[in-house]
Amino acid sequence: MGKLIDGKSIAAGIRGEIKKEIDRIKSTGGHLPGLTVILVGDDPGSQVYVRNKERACQEVGIISDIKRLPATTTEAELIALVRGLNVDDKVDGILVQLPLPKGNDEIRILNEIAPDKDVDGLHPLNMGKLLKGEKGALVPCTPQGAIELILSTGVEIKGREAVVVGRSNIVGKPLAILLLQNHATVTICHSRTKNLGEVTRRADILVAATGQPKMITGDMVKPGAVVIDVGTSKVNDKLTGDVDFETTKEVAGFITPVPGGVGPMTIALLMKNTLAAAKLRATSGRA
Ligand SMILES: NC(=O)c1ccc[n+]([C@@H]2O[C@H](COP(=O)([O-])OP(=O)(O)OC[C@H]3O[C@@H](n4cnc5c(N)ncnc54)[C@H](OP(=O)(O)O)[C@@H]3O)[C@@H](O)[C@H]2O)c1
Repeated sequence: MGKLIDGKSIAAGIRGEIKKEIDRIKSTGGHLPGLTVILVGDDPGSQVYVRNKERACQEVGIISDIKRLPATTTEAELIALVRGLNVDDKVDGILVQLPLPKGNDEIRILNEIAPDKDVDGLHPLNMGKLLKGEKGALVPCTPQGAIELILSTGVEIKGREAVVVGRSNIVGKPLAILLLQNHATVTICHSRTKNLGEVTRRADILVAATGQPKMITGDMVKPGAVVIDVGTSKVNDKLTGDVDFETTKEVAGFITPVPGGVGPMTIALLMKNTLAAAKLRATSGRA
């Protein structure tokens, strides 16, 4: 049976390191990082995610401010709010919790976030820097978390076959780029990929980010592979991954559980990005 990758404890370790650094800043009277999260409407999933982010901020010493707005908030009001936060020196990170209620142009609103406060890493400038391998990019949290989980296994990424199933802007694409930067040979699969199992069976490192519960089964996995399950779907009220854990754990060398794998890493990396954004702004003289 494959070894379990304990995202919960790896994430706790990352939060611990961040807390130490923020304690140091506090003790020297420096600028404490601040994160503002904008939550529009009352989507139950988003409420939970935002509460978890707030809790993590409290734990590590990041000043958090949650702007809870009614679903009737207009796009113009949201843009005005983001623009105000862009020029607020107390704010180092701005995160708009997705999905926004129907009728909002998410891309337009996200593109309003100042790139140096874009802790979700979704602004075209940060995406462009990531693609080019430029320093100073804020990189999406979940892909960064997935890379940390792979590294935690001790399996070298360099030269390995990595397959990412899913090509979203927030997970699949940036993760594929990060794997490429780590010198993997990368294949990206999606809903039109033919003979998916044939491709995934080549993977030394297999990441599933589709939102299709249990679509990756043990027979689609190369023996000994590192399997990272990003998926989180609710099935009969239970959080379920994209990977069929029962059949895959018998084949994989390492596997993440759902919950307790990628999820806690996403929040830990959000804390890391907020601290990084604060430092970037401090060194560019804007904090
Ligand atoms: N744990 C965390 O912190 C975290 C963070 C972010 C997301 N998630 C979860 O990760 C999952 C993916 O999120 P996302 O935002 O990337 O989703 P998304 O934007 O819906 O993208 C899903 C991707 O999967 C592909 N896909 C769908 N069905 C497929 C199939 N049968 N075979 C192959 N590819 C298929 C889609 O292909 P096409 O492009 O061809 O449509 C698309 O590229 C969701 O369950 C989400 O809740 C978890």
